Amino acid sequence: MNVLVVGGGGREHAICWSLAKSGKISGLYCAPGNAGIARIAECVPIGPMQFDELVRFARDHGIDLVVVGPDDPLAGGIVDAFGAAGIPAFGPNKAAAEIEASKIFMKNLLRKYGIPTARYETFDDYDKALAYLRTQQAPIVVKADGLATGKGVTVARTMEEAEEALRRMMIERVFGASGTRVVIEEFMEGQEMSLLAFVDGETVRPMVPSQDHKPVFDGDRGPNTGGMGTYSPLPHIDLAIVETAVETILKPTAAALAREGRPFRGVLYAGLMVTGEGPKVVEFNARFGDPETQVVLPRLETDLLDIILATLNGSLDRIDIRWNDEAAVCVIMASEGYPGPYAKGRKIEGIEEAEAAGALVFHAGTALDADGNLVTAGGRVLGVVGRGRDIAEARRRAYEACGMIRFEGAHYRKDIAMKALAGLRADAASGQQGTSGG
Ligand code: AMP
Ligand code: GLY
Repeated sequence: MNVLVVGGGGREHAICWSLAKSGKISGLYCAPGNAGIARIAECVPIGPMQFDELVRFARDHGIDLVVVGPDDPLAGGIVDAFGAAGIPAFGPNKAAAEIEASKIFMKNLLRKYGIPTARYETFDDYDKALAYLRTQQAPIVVKADGLATGKGVTVARTMEEAEEALRRMMIERVFGASGTRVVIEEFMEGQEMSLLAFVDGETVRPMVPSQDHKPVFDGDRGPNTGGMGTYSPLPHIDLAIVETAVETILKPTAAALAREGRPFRGVLYAGLMVTGEGPKVVEFNARFGDPETQVVLPRLETDLLDIILATLNGSLDRIDIRWNDEAAVCVIMASEGYPGPYAKGRKIEGIEEAEAAGALVFHAGTALDADGNLVTAGGRVLGVVGRGRDIAEARRRAYEACGMIRFEGAHYRKDIAMKALAGLRADAASGQQGTSGG
């Protein structure tokens, strides 16, 4: 088979890496890819939003299957565009992708079907939003309605912070049209969990759970990013909670989308808060997570291509999906300044050393310069994955590998996966058993 992966970040590198293990792929292409992906797939210089060019490329190169990574093309209807050309594409169509593209659509769907999430109100008028906000108490959460690369959310610790966020979104329009409508919602206390599932319209097959770290600095301080690190499994979250989330959130949401005439095919990603009242929805994404994919796919034993084909032909209920018991920890090495403006073009060294030590290094924002040197080309540069028997070992290996990789201004969090270790210590102290969440 000839397969085209759309996207060019760490998630797409992990998807290509996983697909490259399949014996059934003769041609693997990635548009646009990056310098790391170029080592395992043929990179094609077409952007993810250039649907006509992508369809033409797919036709000319006999592409049998397209796998879409990022949110923007899904929200823009890339799967519909390939469908119209008769080329199977893995991912939700435009109507189903709205679960991610509009937080208001998502929240209203959950309310209609009684699926657990934070209490909320939505506004398209600044004065009304402000008046409502002033009836609430901090901490409180203010979200831009549309896509904003993970940065359109403010978890306000004070009312001043909340009012400023509202002003920036609705008056200053710092997120453009994404902020013309906002959601103001209750703050939920608890542990975060990313639970992704393959969904074929009806059947929901969960992947192993993982946890992301969105704020840029240690201790969850600083502005939110697209994700600074992940780990899987979550040894401090009981398996029963994961099962509850599948039964009370993922399955009902897939069923709700089907009922609404928007059956979802692809990866449905539930961003959850495990609260005292059980798991509740923080967000839904319509795709693989980044950097969740970098720790989830290394734990997949089954051929990813087979699962994708089963999703497309509606036979997910009949396929055996196996995961290994390894732990994986991904640390994102970012450019100086990220998530604000950052420098590009800085030379990267030490990746071979890190790989020789057993790490998986997924490229996110990398490129080759005119002299063929590997250089930084994005905010998130690399996802460095350590694997081991447990989180402690995987974490140690990930950080050892990060220590081998150098580029000027490199920044990474030093506390990825510490919540798992702290949670296990708390469980041990209170005499509980930390059951594997994987
Ligand atoms: P989102 O883009 O909606 O996932 O939000 C980004 C991050 O903000 C989440 O990963 C959470 O850490 C945090 N967050 C969002 N909504 C809430 C909420 N209602 N309560 C607590 N934290 C939240
Ligand atoms: N890791 C968060 C996301 O993929 O949206």
